[in-house]
Amino acid sequence: MDYLKLDKNALREELSEKRKEYERIREKDLKLDMSRGKPAADQLNLSDGMLNILTHDDCVNHTIDYRNYGIFDGIPEAKEMFCDLLGAEKDEIMILGNSSLNIMYDAIIRSFVLGVNSSCPPWSKLEKVKFLCPVPGYDRHFRICERMGIEMINIDMTPEGPDMDTVERLVAEDEAIKGIWCVPKYSNPGGVTYSDETVRRFANLKPKAGDFRIFWDNAYCIHDLYDDGDKLLNLFEECKKAGNPSLPYIFGSTSKITYPGAGVAFIIASKNNIRRIIDRSGAQTIGYDKLNQLRHVKFFKNADGIKIHMKKHAELIRPKFETVLSALEREFSENKILEWTNPRGGYFISVNLLDGCAKRTVELCAEAGVVLTGAGATFPYGKDPRDRNIRIAPTFPTVAELSEAVEVFCLAVKLATLEKLLNI
Ligand SMILES: Cc1ncc(COP(=O)(O)O)c(C=O)c1O
Repeated sequence: MDYLKLDKNALREELSEKRKEYERIREKDLKLDMSRGKPAADQLNLSDGMLNILTHDDCVNHTIDYRNYGIFDGIPEAKEMFCDLLGAEKDEIMILGNSSLNIMYDAIIRSFVLGVNSSCPPWSKLEKVKFLCPVPGYDRHFRICERMGIEMINIDMTPEGPDMDTVERLVAEDEAIKGIWCVPKYSNPGGVTYSDETVRRFANLKPKAGDFRIFWDNAYCIHDLYDDGDKLLNLFEECKKAGNPSLPYIFGSTSKITYPGAGVAFIIASKNNIRRIIDRSGAQTIGYDKLNQLRHVKFFKNADGIKIHMKKHAELIRPKFETVLSALEREFSENKILEWTNPRGGYFISVNLLDGCAKRTVELCAEAGVVLTGAGATFPYGKDPRDRNIRIAPTFPTVAELSEAVEVFCLAVKLATLEKLLNI
């Protein structure tokens, strides 16, 4: 049945059926949650070998005793492992603390207070600072901008990545545009991996602002669900080829590899950018947690060790994605009221409903005991102009919980859509 082809009487009949179903579900008093992009406990268990892996000798057998202060930009062993994984030189990376979002936040604050480079004033001296925000996107990127008073400009996502015609035009004509947020592989929330052409177009951008930076948040760089994962072109290499080595700040962490909040995070950038960051952030701390960096290196041994580990994550979360996707396929392949993404990695599935139906769907789910990420969260200022996008996070619940939660979700989508079509 396709609601878009039904007449008003048939829609009313369907609504009364679905309302009965909904009441039956509400009586179950469910408590389910598809809102949190967090690993489940069985994923965390995969890294428990790290918990007590370090010995005294591991820590002291270096020119610097790793238990003590020293080495600001990351221990050499960790740099080697991540450089190998991500394609950078050791003086193009810093390994810092436990959170990549923290590094992004600091990068923005530094830009406001101290400036991005010696030829451009700090952003705090400017009347206006703007960022491009591919949408739907990651709410915490948007929150940083909102807190700092940065004006956000929505850029539509396409199956190839952000709409590059608009990105190229805007950065070339407006000096107030200082950055763009990108989650280039298995984007949050759409699961889109930018095409080679998109990456090349990013590398060849000609921004009017001399201190424009691409904030390349590669949070899901090796988070494939299948053996033949998506391939993302190396932006940093492409920028070097294009004579634009200073353009990108590339961020990442092991939050969804080992432990969220207790992993290690890094930034990759040109040697000049890294030198400047070290110089400007040296006043902030004497050094980061080298023992955690060392723990990660000893646990994984090398870049291949990380890749093998990620296959174990995939085994655990693939069935969860498939549970949600097969339910959507079953319920909506004929009933064309919902479109969804089919990610091959990352942490999220993104759905688009008919315009004006997202908030109501989230509300109906909540009333039936299923928590979803708030409608609008995937847009700057929490405002989805079409009120149609919802992010589903399938990793944290069990498969059994997900089956139940997605059943409620599908029913809520149908109810919200019927109400919309009937102007109720
Ligand atoms: C796109 C993206 N970037 C960054 C983060 C947070 O990373 P971290 O734990 O390294 O701060 C997340 C977490 O969900 C994310 O989805």
